[in-house]
Amino acid sequence: MKILKYLNYIISATLISLFAQMPSHAEGNNSVARQKKILVAYFSQPEDVALDGVDAVSGASLLKKNQQIFGATQYIAQLIGDELGADLYRIEPTRPYPRDHEPLVELASKEKGDGIRPAIQHPIPDLNQYDTVFVGYPIWWYQMPMILHTFLEENDFSGKKIIPFSTHGGSRLSGTVQAIQSLQPNANVETDAFSISRDDVAKNSTEDILVNWLNDISLE
Ligand SMILES: Cc1cc2nc3c(=O)[nH]c(=O)nc-3n(C[C@H](O)[C@H](O)[C@H](O)COP(=O)(O)O)c2cc1C
Repeated sequence: MKILKYLNYIISATLISLFAQMPSHAEGNNSVARQKKILVAYFSQPEDVALDGVDAVSGASLLKKNQQIFGATQYIAQLIGDELGADLYRIEPTRPYPRDHEPLVELASKEKGDGIRPAIQHPIPDLNQYDTVFVGYPIWWYQMPMILHTFLEENDFSGKKIIPFSTHGGSRLSGTVQAIQSLQPNANVETDAFSISRDDVAKNSTEDILVNWLNDISLE
C-alpha cells in the first residue's frame, strides 16, 4: 500500500513538472522571442516639417507620440523592438540625406534612376548572433530606398528569417517582399510583411494591430 502511494506521488510530481515546462499557448510568439536574439534593422528618413504641440500627430512622415519625435518607420521599428525585446540597428547613409521634401525626392529619384548604392555609415552588428532579422523601410518611388539594396547586397542572410515591414504614402508593399527574396535567395523571407500608411502610424490602434501581426507570423 505504501509503495502504491509512493508511486502515485512520483507520477504526480513528474506530470506537474512536465506541465510546468510546457509553454502556455496564451504566451504567444513574444515570450518565445524573448529567449532568442532578434535584430530589427530599419531605415527611416523623416522630413523636416513643423509639428504643432499636440501629441500623436503626423506630418509628412514625422510623428510625435508621447512627446517624442519619430520617423514613421522608426516608430514601427521601436514598437517591434519593445514588444520582442529585440536589438535595434538604424541603417544610415554616410552622406546624410536632405531633410527637405523636394531635394530628398529628387535625390531619391536620381539614386533609383542611376542604380546608386549609397554607402552605409555604421557597420551592421555581427549577424551570427541573430536567426531572425526584421527589415524596415519606407517606400520610395514605388520600391525600397536604394540604401536597402546596399544593405541587402552587402550582408548575407542565408539560413536566416527576414521579416519585412514598411510604411508608405499609398503604394503599400509595392513588390518589395519579392525584391528582398531575389536579393537574399537563401533566406526565409516572411511573405506576410507588415505594411502601414504613414497616415495611420500615429493612431492608438497601431500598437494592437502590430502585436496581432507579430503573434500571427512565425519568427523562425
Ligand atoms: C523620396 C520619397 C519618395 C517616396 N515615394 C513614395 C512612393 O512611391 N509611394 C508611397 O506610397 N509613398 C512614398 N513616399 C512616402 C513615404 O513612403 C512615407 O512617407 C513613409 O512613411 C516615410 O517613412 P519614414 O518617416 O520612416 O522615412 C515617399 C517619400 C519620400 C521621401
